[in-house]
Amino acid sequence: MEFELIIEGGWIQTVETRFRADVGVIQGRIAAIGDLRGALAAWRYDASGKILLPGLIDEHVHSRDPGLTHKEDFAHATRAAAAGGITTILEMPNSIPPVLDREHFEARRDALSSRAYVDFGLYGMVLGSKNQSALSGMAEVGAIGFKLFWGYALDQTTLALVYTPEPGRAVVPPPTDGEIYLAFQAIAELGRPVAIHAENAEVIAALAAKERGAQDYGALLRARPPFSELMTIEAALRLAEASQVHLHVLHMAAAEGPALLAQARERGVRVSGETCPHYLFLAAEDYPHIGPAMKILPPIRERRHQEGLWEALQRGWIDTIGSDHAPHTPEDKVGSPLEVPGGAATIQFSLPLLLDAAAQGRLTLGKIVELMAEHPAKIFGLYGTKGVLAPGADADLTLVDLDREWTLGETLSKSPIHPYRGWRVRGAPVAVFLRGRLIMEEGIVFDPPSGHFIRS
Ligand code: DOR
Ligand code: ZN
Repeated sequence: MEFELIIEGGWIQTVETRFRADVGVIQGRIAAIGDLRGALAAWRYDASGKILLPGLIDEHVHSRDPGLTHKEDFAHATRAAAAGGITTILEMPNSIPPVLDREHFEARRDALSSRAYVDFGLYGMVLGSKNQSALSGMAEVGAIGFKLFWGYALDQTTLALVYTPEPGRAVVPPPTDGEIYLAFQAIAELGRPVAIHAENAEVIAALAAKERGAQDYGALLRARPPFSELMTIEAALRLAEASQVHLHVLHMAAAEGPALLAQARERGVRVSGETCPHYLFLAAEDYPHIGPAMKILPPIRERRHQEGLWEALQRGWIDTIGSDHAPHTPEDKVGSPLEVPGGAATIQFSLPLLLDAAAQGRLTLGKIVELMAEHPAKIFGLYGTKGVLAPGADADLTLVDLDREWTLGETLSKSPIHPYRGWRVRGAPVAVFLRGRLIMEEGIVFDPPSGHFIRS
């Protein structure tokens, strides 16, 4: 037996354990793990002194493609992913046009396929009665899951999401709670998860109106309070319980959110939840030093929320970490915290930040593998092919150097706007393999793009 590739001399990190072993690859899959010093291989890659993780999955990416490619496009987003140690992204449906039916889905899949530097899955969007009958068509052609931007209208002309409602703007209204329940039922039958942006838009509209013109970060926090997040999570849990759908709560920013999920899980609700690195590594108190690069929705809240989320993570109440990579241009991000659009180009930094936290003893490498490989793969039906470093899985592998000390700075995203510029960290992804092909080494991502569209 000859291997295409043997990655030799490194350590293998799983959720439970770390051990010394070589990895042999045949036809893009992991074919053997063990002592392969005597085996034949077309190519050998030296991993000594370093650690191999299963290729990481970023389940929460906004590549802006098509529609807003002056902010970001798929080639840039997926190159930045590869540079950050990520081998699979799940792409959100709020492109312009949004992914509302089978035709949009297939057009987007085909357009993105030739420019993907990592593997990718696509979400479909939930828009209530306006696309209820299109959900099954999107599932048939491979929607990895569905996304509901709870309470958010679409601009009637562009179909772009309206993050901050303005009186008088012509919009496609958001689904009602009844429509959401019917969508959840349909998605449960399709066997897919539904991922939600949980913030109560009516509360936000009322409170944001009171803050109009305010320039301080506190105004953003007052306009989007924790209770607006928690009440939406609670409503979603009720509808998930009634419909039996798998509910995945995205970007939990309030300290109390994960406990709501844990309690619901105890009574049998199928629910999982995500937080993002910016909620773990930043707090509102950092705004004076960082500025609009850290305006992200839901907002990064006060320090006690950051601490509460770490505690929830350690208790096992948070299942996944996604970047919510949401790039904007530098010009977009000039203005007051209330007015500038939310989002930052963060995809490249999730793993470095988490490795640094591991170096400081805040979590283990096994936990990183659980949060960014095993759990997202299981939730989105990819486990076995993705999300695990074991024979039979795709040879998606992220090689990390735990001792590397470096400074976060440039990103391969089209947007330079992110909140971590100048941060010193310990730990770096130094090479990435996608189905056995070396796609990144020392921050350089190689052509041609070889990512595939994936479905569960
Ligand atoms: O800050 C955000 N930006 N939060 C989201 O949930 C969406 C995103 C975007 O698409 O701009
Ligand atoms: Zn998002």
